[in-house]
Amino acid sequence: MPNSQNPSGTTWSAERRREVADALEGTGTLLVEDDAYGELRFDGPPLTPLCALAPERTLMTGSFSKVLAPGLRLGWCVAPPEVMHHLVTAKQASDLHSNTFAQQVAARYLDAAPIDEHVARITGMYRRHRDLMLALAADLFPGEVSWTRPDGGMFVWLTLPPGCSSMALFEAALKRNVAILPGLLFYTDGGGDRTVRLNFSNADEPMLEEGMHRLARVLAGQLRAAS
Ligand SMILES: Cc1ncc(COP(=O)(O)O)c(C=O)c1O
Repeated sequence: MPNSQNPSGTTWSAERRREVADALEGTGTLLVEDDAYGELRFDGPPLTPLCALAPERTLMTGSFSKVLAPGLRLGWCVAPPEVMHHLVTAKQASDLHSNTFAQQVAARYLDAAPIDEHVARITGMYRRHRDLMLALAADLFPGEVSWTRPDGGMFVWLTLPPGCSSMALFEAALKRNVAILPGLLFYTDGGGDRTVRLNFSNADEPMLEEGMHRLARVLAGQLRAAS
């Protein structure tokens, strides 16, 4: 996930993309570039996708879930022709075809409305949410907590100080009707219990503000208990 990775919200630099593309060259490796959040970029110029830097060695997937509606269950794929041939065969064997009604809905939408304007509108809204979340984190969170500054996507990734547990934070926050995702759910080795994924796309600004205030109080309580 070179763009606005889920869960960390981080984006690969142009240099890193070039390095990975160079490393792929001459190998038999196919890299899967999951670009679900690529359209939701807030800052800086667009970055070249891996599928453009190493087209023979990359399979890129995109989704309508983040820019139109997750309920459509539609996405797309860019792949070398011989890989695409196998993908089409495998997909036909597994589900015959994607829901044609949903495809028609998406196609009509794309025909009728300029998608770039829609993406610019939601990107502007998510950028405001991101800015609000980061400003509130700086104002309210204890100094020992650190976080990423995502340049796109939907998530901020917190790192808690030693002694804190994201699972305990999750349970305490939920009691106050604040939903966070404990970072350990993203780890396969049992690590990550001092990390937390926060989402800024879902709640509106007043709710985001209230949620951050409640979370800050819970965090401060955990830190007091840990010290
Ligand atoms: C990393 C990543 N890839 C892809 C998707 C989109 O999946 P889908 O198109 O099945 O909704 C998501 C959505 O949560 C995601 O986080």
